[in-house]
Amino acid sequence: MKTTSFEDQIRELKNQRNAVILAHNYVEGPVQDIADFVGDSLELSIKAKNAEKPVIVFCGVSFMAETAKILSPQSIVLHPEPSAGCPMSDMAPAHAVREYREAYPDTVLVAYVNTTAAVKAEVDICCTSANAEKIIRSIPADKKIMFLPDQNLGANVMRLTGRKMELWPGYCPTHNRIMPEAAKKIRAAHPDAVMIVHPECLPAVVDIADYALSTGGMLRFAKETEARKIIIGTEHGILHRLRNENPGKEFIPMYPLPACPNMKKIKLESVLDALEKMQYPVELGVELMDRARLPIERMLSI
Ligand code: 13P
Ligand code: SF4
Repeated sequence: MKTTSFEDQIRELKNQRNAVILAHNYVEGPVQDIADFVGDSLELSIKAKNAEKPVIVFCGVSFMAETAKILSPQSIVLHPEPSAGCPMSDMAPAHAVREYREAYPDTVLVAYVNTTAAVKAEVDICCTSANAEKIIRSIPADKKIMFLPDQNLGANVMRLTGRKMELWPGYCPTHNRIMPEAAKKIRAAHPDAVMIVHPECLPAVVDIADYALSTGGMLRFAKETEARKIIIGTEHGILHRLRNENPGKEFIPMYPLPACPNMKKIKLESVLDALEKMQYPVELGVELMDRARLPIERMLSI
């Protein structure tokens, strides 16, 4: 009896459903390989906005699937693993952000895209790690800013721009575990390597690296640099593309290996189930989506 692989079944169902599969740079290699587009948060938001497909299967964490739905409300957005959340986004609950807004009505609230739709509905503008510097520079100098929920990204952008900001006490558990001592040790072990890290890392880790870049920025950097050896300070899923796209270069992950357990929940099996059973559609109220879209659109227009 002839059996078809998960990949073949996914391709067939994807065509039947007229669906597009979007995946974040951190999901497992086989899931990246079946996707139509793999990218960072900003690139995926833009893809979702321009998808023009009735079905989007979003392989990433919940806030990313929500963002896709907000930007493409006419599409059915399927999140294959609804339990794949982002612990950092949960560190800024909507009620607490609303309370802050009420207490400081004149402060500009800048939300990293790693926030729930309910939080986006409360803020002035969003940013991603790829455009945070540009977004902060666009805010008039006389305005107070609260940056949420990532205190590391906020502190790193504050140092880049010289702009003082209030920082929400959130962080990414995966990137926060990358310690300066480990970063120093790996640099010392590979003195001929360039080191790039994600700006969700502690500022003390960014100090040790050569550059702090979004995942999309890391992929571009890796292609363009003359360096043959690159130390990578971010979630290890990115190594899949880095190695495939740059066969002549060596990529050295941090030790211990940074892993996001939520990104790893998305499997080929769950993508197939999603397409077969049309599960699990992201469901958000129209009014909430309309409010949450404003800060994202503001970000995309800058
Ligand atoms: P990027 O926008 O750089 O892909 O980052 C998303 C993220 O969740 C990093 O932890
Ligand atoms: Fe959230 Fe960190 Fe995972 Fe990114 S790596 S999705 S910030 S927990």
